[in-house]
Amino acid sequence: MKLPAYIFSVAPMMDCTDRHCRFIFRQITEHSLLYTEMITAPALVHGNQERFLEFRPEEHPVALQLGGSTPKELAFATKLGIKFGYDEINLNMGCPSDRVSQGCFGAKLMTLPETSRDCIKAMLDVSDGTEITVKCRIGVDDADPYEMLPELLELFRSLSIKRVIIHARKAILQGLSPKENRTIPPLDYDLVLQCKQWFPDMILCINGGITSMAQSQEFLARGIDGVMVGREAYHKPLAILKEVDEKIFQSSKGRDISVIMDNLVQYVESEVEKGVPIRRITRHMLGLFSGIRGARTWRRRLSSPQFIDNQGVTGLRDTLNTLMVNI
Ligand SMILES: Cc1cc2nc3c(=O)[nH]c(=O)nc-3n(C[C@H](O)[C@H](O)[C@H](O)COP(=O)(O)O)c2cc1C
Repeated sequence: MKLPAYIFSVAPMMDCTDRHCRFIFRQITEHSLLYTEMITAPALVHGNQERFLEFRPEEHPVALQLGGSTPKELAFATKLGIKFGYDEINLNMGCPSDRVSQGCFGAKLMTLPETSRDCIKAMLDVSDGTEITVKCRIGVDDADPYEMLPELLELFRSLSIKRVIIHARKAILQGLSPKENRTIPPLDYDLVLQCKQWFPDMILCINGGITSMAQSQEFLARGIDGVMVGREAYHKPLAILKEVDEKIFQSSKGRDISVIMDNLVQYVESEVEKGVPIRRITRHMLGLFSGIRGARTWRRRLSSPQFIDNQGVTGLRDTLNTLMVNI
């Protein structure tokens, strides 16, 4: 039986999970669900839609994350995402950035149930069978998460939202930077586990501070429906994603590392031929060998503009060949 992709996903991360990054992840894990960075609905209404939304068919399963607080714009962006072929459209209700909360969306939406309801309804109205999901926090500012989160889940359920990804810490909208908001508010995994008991009919995925396969497996064993990993997957993709297909999806072991590397070099080559600056892709590869001998040389070379600009794809291939001897 094929397990649903949401049981293990890689989180949406601005400036990180663009199409190049997702292609890299997809070479390492065939089955995990990959999320785009948050793309705001107004950007899709006014900006270059192709540039924001294009992706390669190999990236599937892939979910588009939207930010917004205007139902009309979110409906437009949802329709567009579906037209481009995304497998899921996710609403960001967890981002604590000032810029975003002033625009009244992200985590701020958690404090505005009426607006949230209108936004989600507008997305569902145009969803045409594509799943609409939400990513939120356990609470915001002084609100008690043990009241706020269940109330929110109740609202989602009443709207027929089936799947929710919960970042298991509060968002503090004033006084903490987005980065601090990913470390300072304490994690409360127990509340998310408790919510699964209260809402057994909903699909609840847990996120925040997950750094190992063992931890992911433990959450699944304790009844959580899915695990979402962000920073660990970005900074050490091989270390965590290489095991996912076998250990979480109970599928075959996945591609051999030499095949992954060949595919990556071919990808870089083909994108560079199309005019993509090489560093736009290689910046996502810095952590590829974290924990493996030779990782430092790799990181140093890849982060050196001279090396990358002068040696290009040939330098990348040669460095990889040298490193592969250590693996
Ligand atoms: C650089 C960066 C950018 C992020 N951008 C987004 C985003 O666009 N949308 C979103 O919902 N969460 C965003 N997040 C939050 C992550 O999706 C995730 O909830 C958070 O990092 C906690 O998971 P982790 O501990 O596994 O990293 C971002 C996190 C990081 C580190």
